[in-house]
Amino acid sequence: MGRPQLNLDTKPFVIFEKKGAVGLLTLNRPEALNALSHPLMDELEKALDECAADSAVRAVVLTGSDKAFAAGADISEMEGLNAAQMRLDPHLSRWDKVATFPKPTIAAISGYALGGGLELALACDLRIASETAVLGQPEILIGVIPGAGGSVRLARLLGRARALEMLLTGKRISAHEALKLGILNRVVPVELFLEEALKLAREIAAMPPLAVAAVKKSVLSALSPDYPDYPKALKLERELFYDLFDSEDQKEGMQAFIQKRKPKFKGK
Ligand code: CAA
Repeated sequence: MGRPQLNLDTKPFVIFEKKGAVGLLTLNRPEALNALSHPLMDELEKALDECAADSAVRAVVLTGSDKAFAAGADISEMEGLNAAQMRLDPHLSRWDKVATFPKPTIAAISGYALGGGLELALACDLRIASETAVLGQPEILIGVIPGAGGSVRLARLLGRARALEMLLTGKRISAHEALKLGILNRVVPVELFLEEALKLAREIAAMPPLAVAAVKKSVLSALSPDYPDYPKALKLERELFYDLFDSEDQKEGMQAFIQKRKPKFKGK
């Protein structure tokens, strides 16, 4: 089956709205429970590029509908392909783009977050879910494994036994189970999940941008396969810390503290 090159529909598959300093990206393919087709991921990549380039956007919230964050990669696009054809397709690199996005990202999850959908949420920095969210890596049930980082990210997040239980059974778990496992930051009633994610994004967006970027870089490096050892991660953290002392925001933040006033950060 060939890949559709374009969104031939009249509606966008990803709606991009600016909410103050927060970029809100809403997956919008309800008829397929937001299955992550090529055209949808093309639009997501473009919206992320816009958010990265716009200095007024300081954090990004990625969400779906109440019923589905995303039910996985689009099975109908890949079912007929062989391994060589799959290898030639850069589709899965879009998930990496989310994972390495330079600004903080929050997944606001409700309903199904399965397969590539959960992998998309795992590629974000933080995850807020509704009580109705259902998470899982069901790829094994259709004869494959996660291909967009799910087995690696879950192994790091949950450890061997708990990751393997999810991956080997393909079982769906509830939001409360996922919270207990450490996959989610918090679980709230369905009518609040998006507002809660936006609230957290606004809080982060109000922080000094250079320090936000540095803290994200440090945490990602600590988890990166390029920095397998703690001494390297600690060294990078220290360098980032020192670098911030050349910024106006560091001077402003520390002076404001001493002068007992609110700091005015400029991202410089
Ligand atoms: N790909 C393509 N279409 C999908 C889809 C997917 N991943 N998930 C749902 N849909 C479509 C269905 O085909 C259906 O379309 P039609 O109405 O045209 O038939 C529509 O969305 C609604 O789905 P259901 O009728 O199945 O709804 P349901 O409420 O009965 O079940 C569900 C919901 C449990 C999520 C079920 O749709 C499901 O199991 N989906 C597939 C989940 C899955 O296996 N995801 C992993 C995909 S592989 C992957 O993601 C690989 C990777 O690592 C990148």
